[in-house]
Amino acid sequence: MATKTQPTVLIGEDELSARINMLAHEIRQDLPAGQIHLIAVLKGAFLFLGDLIRAMDGHVTIDFMACSSYAGGTTSSGEVRLSKDLDVGIEGRDVVIVEDIVDTGLTLHYLQEILLARGPRSLRTACLLSKPSRRKIDVKVDYIGFTIEDKFVVGYGLDYAEQYRNLPYIGILE
Ligand code: IMP
Ligand code: MG
Repeated sequence: MATKTQPTVLIGEDELSARINMLAHEIRQDLPAGQIHLIAVLKGAFLFLGDLIRAMDGHVTIDFMACSSYAGGTTSSGEVRLSKDLDVGIEGRDVVIVEDIVDTGLTLHYLQEILLARGPRSLRTACLLSKPSRRKIDVKVDYIGFTIEDKFVVGYGLDYAEQYRNLPYIGILE
């Protein structure tokens, strides 16, 4: 599918990288000893995860989950479906969910419930972006990269109908 419009830059590359380095250090400070198990939510969080782990010291392991609440558009169906589960168990581990954006909060709430039921030692959540004005459920997010307005954003892993994930910045589709 061809895309015509070029998104307007909202958060540039340097700003992203500086903030993500800070988040990585914050997470490591909160979990100073031992292994941190990062669980990235596919597909949107894949670049965030990549930059986050490269800025994190010590032992880090990763796994992936995928779920969908959007059917290719810009509005949530309100329904969350797990389409890829973890490869390994998380019992007794210090887990951090790595997500691209928290919008209504339904996806994260669902993931947190599923993961907590599996008995991790601790469960934290890191989101690159948050749109608080859109929240439908009060979900706990321990680390937020940037709080943004209610605009549909793309780039740096985030898509609109599978396009724009390759942009090195976060942009607004107008
Ligand atoms: P929530 O369940 O409404 O919080 O939606 C979370 C998911 O919706 C995110 O993981 C994204 O995949 C997607 N999403 C929400 N807002 C945006 C946006 O502005 N751009 C791209 N994807 C979005
Ligand atoms: Mg997502």
